Amino acid sequence: MSSQLAAVAKALVAPGKGILAADESTGTANKRFAALNIPETEELRRNYRDLLFTAPSFGSYFSGVILYDETIRQNGRDGRTFVDVLETAGSFPGIKLDTGPQQLALANPGEKITEGLDGLAKRVDEYVKLGAKFAKWRAVITIDEAHGSPSDACLHANAGALARYAAICQAGGLVPIVEPEVLMDGDLATQSLETSLAVHERTLHHVFNELHRANVVYEEMILKPSMVIPGQKSGQTASVRDVAQATLTTLLRYVPAAVAGIAFLSGGQGNEEATAHLNEINVLGKGANAPWPLTFSYGRALQQPALHLWLGDDAKVEAAQAALSHRGLLNSLAAQGKWSPDLEKQRDLVATR
Ligand code: 13P
Repeated sequence: MSSQLAAVAKALVAPGKGILAADESTGTANKRFAALNIPETEELRRNYRDLLFTAPSFGSYFSGVILYDETIRQNGRDGRTFVDVLETAGSFPGIKLDTGPQQLALANPGEKITEGLDGLAKRVDEYVKLGAKFAKWRAVITIDEAHGSPSDACLHANAGALARYAAICQAGGLVPIVEPEVLMDGDLATQSLETSLAVHERTLHHVFNELHRANVVYEEMILKPSMVIPGQKSGQTASVRDVAQATLTTLLRYVPAAVAGIAFLSGGQGNEEATAHLNEINVLGKGANAPWPLTFSYGRALQQPALHLWLGDDAKVEAAQAALSHRGLLNSLAAQGKWSPDLEKQRDLVATR
């Protein structure tokens, strides 16, 4: 086992630290900008990432940042590369390696397969030279009860791609983040908590079967799962305790203890909701002697307040940075089971810690 990769994996999930997902493709970043009337330019995408990565105490909360191809090649506003900026802040640069989901041939309508395996070893070499230490690949699993989705064909194909990606990463010197996302948002998301749990279990079963067959080393990888939550169109509300219990139960059944850590995606949850769930998962995880660190790798649930304050305006950079650091601190506490709702309102928390 390359102890260097295991050490990076362990550092990414160190106590009280999690990962900032800032790897929106140019298309997705532009969509989020357009919704807020922020001009869709390379310079503003650069300035926005710069404000995130230079926020106060950044490295105390964020062990790593997932970057998109455009960003890993850019320089920050002070002229240093973003890789340099992050390393100086004490945060590992990571890279999104998948090229996105496409319709899976001969499967149910809406079932996706994530692409990007062709030529991947070469791309890994290049990103390692640019300074990347870890990577991400996201598989998208859609529940559509009317069509019987997800099918075994879809779960098997996506698990196989995740395993090949993870093996190529480890062979090339990157820690793979393995992300099977069971969607909780969208018009089809009518699943109950129980159905969500059953689909998460099938998904993780396929994923770890394929990781095992591909000789992936668990100590050198991080799992990035969705939480077990009723679909946004289900009409069901589940308590924070129910979500945490269902999520932990599923992970304890299907994730080997040797996996370096688990870093959840937020997947359309509200900012505070994602933090409350993570906190409760950690509270229950301690009681159940969960064998892995349980932390965050959020995109929207970390960035939303900062983006909404900034709006492309240089005069708002400090306020936006304070908002990111605030969510960083709250999620850092949640990753230790030390968060409480009253901390949400304490805006000066970062400065006083
Ligand atoms: P969200 O937390 O916004 O779901 O993003 C995390 C991520 O990296 C999705 O691939």
